Amino acid sequence: MFKDLEGFLAPGSEEERLARELDLTRIPRHVAIIMDGNGRWAKSRNLPRIEGHRAGSKSVHEAVETSARVGIKVLSLYAFSKENWKRPKGEISTLFRLLADYLKKESKVLIENDLRLRVIGQKEGLPTLVRRELERVETLTRNNQRMQICLALNYGGRAEILDAVKKILNDKNRKSDDLSEEAFSRYLYTAGLPDPDLLIRTSGEFRVSNFLLWQIAYSEIWITPDYWPDFGRKQLLQALVDYQKRERRFGDIHAAT
Ligand code: FPP
Repeated sequence: MFKDLEGFLAPGSEEERLARELDLTRIPRHVAIIMDGNGRWAKSRNLPRIEGHRAGSKSVHEAVETSARVGIKVLSLYAFSKENWKRPKGEISTLFRLLADYLKKESKVLIENDLRLRVIGQKEGLPTLVRRELERVETLTRNNQRMQICLALNYGGRAEILDAVKKILNDKNRKSDDLSEEAFSRYLYTAGLPDPDLLIRTSGEFRVSNFLLWQIAYSEIWITPDYWPDFGRKQLLQALVDYQKRERRFGDIHAAT
């Protein structure tokens, strides 16, 4: 059992059983999550969609805490896509208000627990106040080492690739013949981060929805029918246990060592 999980999981619970199954030496370094189903969660309870997002913020807190405790180094969360601007204005402003509340409440938790916040996406397209708050927390936490939370906001995978190509074309120091996959990765928003080992999607949809398109080339995918507000410690531990049963071959015929 992980030291950081002791006392955190109820004795005799399903979570504790799952945590005992985990191999401490094979925890995925980077887990990416497509948080989906807030609206349907609310609808199934006859609540306004916003209540689904509010409940979803609690799941964000729980996913961050559990991930840090099991030793994941990077947790990427798809919070707002470039396509999400198509939603009603009221829903968008509520989502950003929830995000601002989350940052205000959680920045202390991030600092105390050595967690770093990093935003990926087209930050310049975000509302000014939200951007300022994000940058404040990014700066406050920039030297933190335990885990990075990559919050995808105004994010699109194709836009990220296109932005990388534009940066390359504008990079005067780059020689035209040295563009390897590794060198290309350094122009992405996720520069310096390992690719996701595990991609989780909630609400039972079998899509990648323009998330980390370049980076998930060899990610293992785990899909749960649970809506995001119902995604808690148990579901994350289930995903990790399942991940550890997979054989990752990266195109080879043998498992990678
Ligand atoms: C998907 O549910 C969820 C989102 C578009 C946004 C995720 C936002 C949160 C979890 C709340 C605040 C965020 C943070 C980082 C604190 P959906 O609305 O697409 O659900 P549906 O598919 O059932 O309609």
